Amino acid sequence: MKNGFLSVALLGAASLSAACSNSPSASCADPDAQCTVGEAAAERGRFLGSTTGGRANWLSDQPELAPLLAEHFTSITCENELKWGFLSDARGEYDFTTADESIAFAEEHGHRVRGHTLFWTRLNGTPVWVFEALENADDPEALLIELMEEHVPTVVGRYRGRIAQWDVVNEPTAQFGGSLDPDNVFLQILGEEFLDRAFRLAHEADPDALLFLNEVFSVSPEETFQGLLDIVDGMLKRGVPIHGVGIQGHFVLEAPDAAEWASRFEAFANLGLLVEVTELDISINNFRTASDPFEAQADAYAEVVRACLAVDACTGITTWNVHDGETWLDTSPPFDVAAPHEPTLFDANQRGKPAYFAVVEAFAEGAASP
Ligand code: XIL
Repeated sequence: MKNGFLSVALLGAASLSAACSNSPSASCADPDAQCTVGEAAAERGRFLGSTTGGRANWLSDQPELAPLLAEHFTSITCENELKWGFLSDARGEYDFTTADESIAFAEEHGHRVRGHTLFWTRLNGTPVWVFEALENADDPEALLIELMEEHVPTVVGRYRGRIAQWDVVNEPTAQFGGSLDPDNVFLQILGEEFLDRAFRLAHEADPDALLFLNEVFSVSPEETFQGLLDIVDGMLKRGVPIHGVGIQGHFVLEAPDAAEWASRFEAFANLGLLVEVTELDISINNFRTASDPFEAQADAYAEVVRACLAVDACTGITTWNVHDGETWLDTSPPFDVAAPHEPTLFDANQRGKPAYFAVVEAFAEGAASP
């Protein structure tokens, strides 16, 4: 089973451009090849993704994004437009306009699509009407089950066969302590059964999609990681169709420790699960005291690439936002107070930063130990 998932997950990346567009016969290790990050990752059988604009009309309102996404990346995550909170203003009503456009854009460029996310109780993950309905329900358990049975087939079924990986549940654990999040209303109502049900419904709606549990992970003490490991292990033992763990990786407060990351990736891989770095951004604030902060940031990006390359089950990396001018960190509390974060691969003028070239190089070097 383990190898089955892995080969399915890697197949797409391996069939991507095997060599660089500028020099079809050269490998990305040749500096003259000038590979994009996507090409360099594909050479190692990995996807390198980024996010859409995540709002209505992003293709026309942020015209710089499409060419960058088309040229440099091989995978696309909808930043917001597949979230329940974005799709639905009332029970039974869905507006798929933006999601349809984003997914069509990805397909037009031959990019893989990650579906983000079916169930998330924080920020814009869940519409207010859902919380209100559950709060006022005589039988919240029965209502939540009904809503899940409506939501999952509606969304996953619509894109059946077109979305390679779904983040079925986002951030189900408490960030400290290793338990399920006590503030998560869905978990309060159904307990762990909520996770099982969500994954089973998603599997029914698209049996070929790889199903991920996506977690924060950047502020992640050992007990939190162990707790998550136990939760997914329990799901596997109950026969729940979970195929991978998504590691978000918003590095706002501390830089990544690649050796720790690789060992944690390995722990999930040992359970037979895939791993993806799903939302990578590394704030420049981590490196303010470095002699060259952008070089230090580049090293940190390279470390994440090396951690992924060290573990076969790591199938790809997605940066959260395409360029520094549109990073969510600069406009989202509480992170906005420390803006500018400049956490992506491209600067606000859409020029590749040292981090961009470090990612190409780290992939080109291959699986050096982190
Ligand atoms: C963020 C988007 O980037 C913002 O545009 C939106 O306002 C809030 O959500 N973890 C996640 C993502 O799983 O869905 C979040 O995306 C960032 C944190």
